[in-house]
Amino acid sequence: MRTLTEPFKIKMVEPLKVTTEEYRREALKVAKYNPFLLRAQDVFVDLLTDSGTGAMSDKQWSGIMMGDESYAGARSWEHLESVVKSLTGMEYIIPTHQGRAAERILYSIIGGPDKVFISNTHFDTTRANIEYTNAEAIDIVCTEADNVESFAPFKGNIDLEKLEQLIKERGSKAIAAVIMTVTNNSSGGQPVSMANMKAVRKICDKHQIMMVIDGCRIAENSYFVKHREEEYSKKSYLEIAQEMLHLGDAFIMSAKKDGLVNMGGLLTVKDKELSVKCQNLLIISEGFTTYGGLSGRDMEALAIGLTEVFDEDYLNYRVKSTAYLGEKLKAKGVPVVWPIGGHAVYIDAKKLYNQIPVEEYPGQTLAVDLYLKGGIRTVEIGSVMFGKYDEQGKLIAAEQELVRLAIPRRVYTQSHIDYVLDVFDDILEMRNQKNGYKITYEPQFLRHFTSHFEPIKK
Ligand code: F0G
Repeated sequence: MRTLTEPFKIKMVEPLKVTTEEYRREALKVAKYNPFLLRAQDVFVDLLTDSGTGAMSDKQWSGIMMGDESYAGARSWEHLESVVKSLTGMEYIIPTHQGRAAERILYSIIGGPDKVFISNTHFDTTRANIEYTNAEAIDIVCTEADNVESFAPFKGNIDLEKLEQLIKERGSKAIAAVIMTVTNNSSGGQPVSMANMKAVRKICDKHQIMMVIDGCRIAENSYFVKHREEEYSKKSYLEIAQEMLHLGDAFIMSAKKDGLVNMGGLLTVKDKELSVKCQNLLIISEGFTTYGGLSGRDMEALAIGLTEVFDEDYLNYRVKSTAYLGEKLKAKGVPVVWPIGGHAVYIDAKKLYNQIPVEEYPGQTLAVDLYLKGGIRTVEIGSVMFGKYDEQGKLIAAEQELVRLAIPRRVYTQSHIDYVLDVFDDILEMRNQKNGYKITYEPQFLRHFTSHFEPIKK
């Protein structure tokens, strides 16, 4: 196999600071061993998120210069609207400043007390926006997802039997929507099949329930459909995305992912009455209907990004380069969630550091070690993020102790990824001598962002 090469060349560079282990040890102390509290300029390879961290193309930057900043009816709005209409097949397009603004608008209208939302897996801001309306959010990912190490082509799917059963138990009137997260970010970035999506459409039709697609990684998902679902092997990535999105009643997108922009979001709906309610809320909280939370240049860049993201060479490189990192890590003996999803590699830190109890946060330990050894920033997705306490103050651990290595789009080269792989040699070498961390300060909500930690000495 030939070297996997980036299908682009570099026209502008952003220097990275090269630091020593001693420097990073001090930086970690100052940041209280929480990677969120590090200064970005002290990070060498930043794999904290793939959200808003991508690089725009020369065409997008040209689009920025062409942005029409008129308050109403701007040319850039017309451009974005036509691209999104063709992608989703939906009539009403509502621009927002990012994904969670679209979530807040839609879910505050269709949510509320006694309402239930069912999803393959709700992303955390999705769940938060739903619960904020006092509605309930239930995850029912397919059973194949339970086994982290085994291969299944579409581990992001929803469990159809459980969906039918839940609708029966709760009654279709109580179900505000079924939300399909594509790819399934909180469940290892795994894809959703077209067959699963069509089956959900059928169930929603039968019970007259609204179907929402949270599709911020819809292009990456289309890659997996084309290569893993026989009947789609001859379709283009764009055609696959169009077919999938046309199944929904509404579409929510954080454009910071497959929109290939640094800021932006979308909400699209089919129903006119609902669109009017959404637009009213948009005007109160984001902006007028033809710009929402975006400037003209943002809309121009997004319209171009949404076209570029379906380019065959780009998507091929994107998904294969993520898989390259995951497959090489697995070959080294690093326990990874399998198969590798589209935007990130997830490491099972509990397995890597099996001597560290969950109360001492093995995921946090790995995130700290990756920074110390290589200046690599990642995020813990385990008991720091999701842990709760019982009445005695004892930790109720999360289901898994993962660390996510999310790959920004078009930012790092193959050699950065090879560097990350080299750093894992050090991690593996010292894996048995590691102790965990304790929390010395934590806020009431979303503690992973601002908690302070201290290494446990034994
Ligand atoms: N839905 C999904 C599936 C997401 O992954 C995200 C963001 C959102 C909604 C919210 O969008 O950030 O634009 O408000 N995910 C980022 C991440 C933060 O790191 O995975 P937003």
